[in-house]
Amino acid sequence: MSLALFALSLPIFLSCNEEPISKAKKTSQPAAVGAWETVLDNTSFASTAAFQSKWNYLYPWGADHNGSARMQSSKLALSGGVLTISATPTSGVGNSTQNPFLPIRYYSGACHAKSQVLINDQFPEWEVRVEAQVPTVRGTWPAFWLTGVNSWPPESDILEFKGSSVNWQNTFDGPDWTSVNTQTILTTVSSPGSWHSYRAWITKVNSTDVDIHYYVDGAWKGVHRAPNFVGKPMWLIINMQMEGSSGSPGPTSTRTYKTRNPYIGRTRAW
Ligand SMILES: *[C@@H]1O[C@H](CO)[C@@H](O)[C@H](O)[C@H]1NC(C)=O
Ligand SMILES: *[C@@H]1O[C@H](CO)[C@@H](O)[C@H](O)[C@H]1NC(C)=O
Ligand SMILES: *[C@@H]1O[C@H](CO)[C@@H](O)[C@H](O)[C@H]1NC(C)=O
Ligand SMILES: *[C@@H]1O[C@H](CO)[C@@H](O)[C@H](O)[C@H]1NC(C)=O
Repeated sequence: MSLALFALSLPIFLSCNEEPISKAKKTSQPAAVGAWETVLDNTSFASTAAFQSKWNYLYPWGADHNGSARMQSSKLALSGGVLTISATPTSGVGNSTQNPFLPIRYYSGACHAKSQVLINDQFPEWEVRVEAQVPTVRGTWPAFWLTGVNSWPPESDILEFKGSSVNWQNTFDGPDWTSVNTQTILTTVSSPGSWHSYRAWITKVNSTDVDIHYYVDGAWKGVHRAPNFVGKPMWLIINMQMEGSSGSPGPTSTRTYKTRNPYIGRTRAW
């Protein structure tokens, strides 16, 4: 199907069918194309034991990144299928070990799925989504995103709020952060502190390129075609960084970021 045809058919497809793409496609495409299978779902948030079997604490590379929060496993709490990440102010504990080495001013939480996302001939389509309640005050930087295991790029940000009610859905196809390698869809979300859903549907185009379709609350927001994604495993990370890109100074009291119903699905071609 041509891209134009595809893009045209998508909003219609979504408006007549509220089912997740994974389920809908199962019935609308011949079995030979490949069957959808669940890699990760909300049962991983049902208990601490279930969580620990499917998720690791912190970032894949450790506790620090490019904001002023240092991650600790104790900042994650599970209750009733909801994962709550709390960021609490701290001081006097030194600087982040990651560029740009900001002074650590918060303890917060991060986790990453043990299963990686890998787009290739065997698994040509993926769906990654979550429901979230996000803080939007200056200095809060909640995210739900994919980033390369062995290289950067690839990166796909499915949920990223930087101190406002605007969600940033970014695709980075590298080799740097310049605009030529960055595609962004901005969506203003009303009441982002209430539950909303954030989703990416990734389809393999050829041996290097993918199309990443982004959604908020089931509404299609756009598609990014990007090289550097095929055959490159990615981590799925849920975290709340602080300050950095989301502005400073950040809040002087605890802020929370809640997620539920995480999902990773893929088609198996053979
Ligand atoms: C997972 O999702 C199913 C279907 O929506 C729901 O019935 C169930 O309560 C959810 N479980 C958790 C732990 O959220
Ligand atoms: C921490 O970062 C601040 C602000 O960038 C800088 O002035 C300071 O020298 C850094 N401290 C250390 C120990 O690296
Ligand atoms: C993949 O498709 C892109 C267009 O999206 C094209 O520019 C590129 O040359 C193709 N690569 C291969 C290896 O076919
Ligand atoms: C911080 O890292 C994230 C993930 O790689 C990236 O999207 C973002 O642009 C970086 N921001 C800054 C200010 O370095």
